[in-house]
Amino acid sequence: MSEGFRSAAVSIAAAVLLSACGGEGSSDDNRNGAESLTLDQKVSAVAKINGITGDPTTGRTLPSITDPKARLGMQLFFSKALGGDLDSACVSCHHPLLGGGDNLSLSIGVEAVLPDLLGPGREHRMDGHEYDGGPTVPRNAPSTFNIVFYDEVLFHDGRVESLGKANPNGEGDAIRTPDSAFGVADVNAGANLSAAQARFPVTSPEEMRGHTFQAGTTTAALRTALEERLKGEDMEMALAAMNDWLSAFQTGFADPMGVADDLITYDHIADALAAYQNSQVLVDNPWKDYLAGDTKAISDDAKRGALLFYTPVAKGGAGCSGCHSGDFFTDEQFHVVGMPQVGRGKGDGVVEPHDNDYGRFRETKEDDDKFAFRTPHLLNVAKTGPWGHAGAYTSLEAVVRHHLNPQLAFDNYDLSQLAPFVQTQTDNIVLNTQQALDQLAALRLAGKSKLVNADLTDVQVSQLLAFLNALTDPCLDDRDCMAKWIPGDDVPDPDGLRVKALGTL
Ligand code: HEC
Ligand code: HEC
Repeated sequence: MSEGFRSAAVSIAAAVLLSACGGEGSSDDNRNGAESLTLDQKVSAVAKINGITGDPTTGRTLPSITDPKARLGMQLFFSKALGGDLDSACVSCHHPLLGGGDNLSLSIGVEAVLPDLLGPGREHRMDGHEYDGGPTVPRNAPSTFNIVFYDEVLFHDGRVESLGKANPNGEGDAIRTPDSAFGVADVNAGANLSAAQARFPVTSPEEMRGHTFQAGTTTAALRTALEERLKGEDMEMALAAMNDWLSAFQTGFADPMGVADDLITYDHIADALAAYQNSQVLVDNPWKDYLAGDTKAISDDAKRGALLFYTPVAKGGAGCSGCHSGDFFTDEQFHVVGMPQVGRGKGDGVVEPHDNDYGRFRETKEDDDKFAFRTPHLLNVAKTGPWGHAGAYTSLEAVVRHHLNPQLAFDNYDLSQLAPFVQTQTDNIVLNTQQALDQLAALRLAGKSKLVNADLTDVQVSQLLAFLNALTDPCLDDRDCMAKWIPGDDVPDPDGLRVKALGTL
């Protein structure tokens, strides 16, 4: 887009704000002095007002997957050696060919029938620990793509959190984690939010730790046990056919003479996992191309969808950018939107089997935070379903429509979209979800909610969806492009415990 075009956009910005927008027929004709504007000029103006460039990478240094540390991180990410019972790896729930997630509503980590079967079809073993017919992990796995752009919080409830909120990805900030009290820095958190987060999946019995691996009761003892395993001091791994982790760490940390005690530490494991994940930058989407001047990069429907997205409900829009703001599409704040609560929950709620999930309240203990979850970013969102903190929605249209009228959406919620084994766990879905919706109603009455019901036509909903679809980086659909984040035969498998995804992945 030319500079002249940009300044024209600024001068007409006010007119666009006043104009009706978004609807078929209403977006191109209006009575507020903007009648001469083309659709492209309107979108450009709205982007300008909202400070949107389409490129979240501006001003950041991003690691590359060619960095040795990121490549070590990839080896670790794919290895079941970090799973206590050797049956679960990070990639079990965050595969690059599954949008950086697992394409399941609720994740299945340890005790899968087939540990290397990822995505739909992955099921929990019936003889598993506390097996009740459904997944034991209570929340949906978010994508690891683009997490480098989160500067304030990770996890649905933000329990890994930058206290300074001053730097990209929390780099160099004091970081709070589940190992420290709310608001208190974890001195071992590491260099950035991604490294801090990478300390925790291994400690979760349902995700990776398992139920038989004995490693003391503290998270520190567990991590020490994993270090010992990778160093070859653990019986099981000593018996394994091979253990070449020392040379992998020597390469990853560019220290060819380094010794295991210095190199194979959990801090280094987390650091490498963070480098690998932070290299998963997938932001080259049509919306970015469009804002860079290629007016044909997105359809007219997507352009109208953009206008709806960035226009408040009171002005005829859908009001999405009130929370999904900026080029990373999130304010990193917590909001109650009342998405259906399915699965086994986080032990919250007064009714057996305590299958509710209070979200951010679990961390802050502030009443207003009950049922609040972090606004997720929307890059590649068409590829990261199922959606919502519990993966209750299996279509993008349904999760978008939920925002337009949450109570109505839940009244019409179709349980059959859930896999049978998730349905079996939804005893209290009405009770639990209605509590969240009642909380939303109360916050709205008190003027504390940013979620406003919007009455959109079906055409407008399809325009919003066209816009969201324009946020997908084509790399995601291109195996050759994604291959750099999947270890091929040329990348050493230090212990023979690499997940080699079965089937079509
Ligand atoms: C059993 C499936 C499973 C495994 C294995 C797993 N994760 Fe996750 N991951 C999840 C789920 C579920 C969440 C959301 C949890 C929450 O917010 O409470 C999550 C959250 C995350 C997040 C936060 C993303 C965000 O948007 O805030 C990152 C980063 C992440 N995982 C990385 C990893 C790494 C690194 C490993 C290995 C050390 C790993 N995961 C292993 C399921 C899994
Ligand atoms: C009040 C703040 C707010 C507004 C306004 C808002 N959202 Fe959201 N959105 C959220 C939160 C919070 C979540 C996560 C809720 C959960 O996980 O339970 C979410 C989730 C989503 C998801 C699912 C993402 C995922 O990875 O699971 C999509 C898609 C989405 N929003 C699109 C939209 C669209 C389109 C609009 C405008 C119609 C919109 N949002 C308006 C706060 C908001």
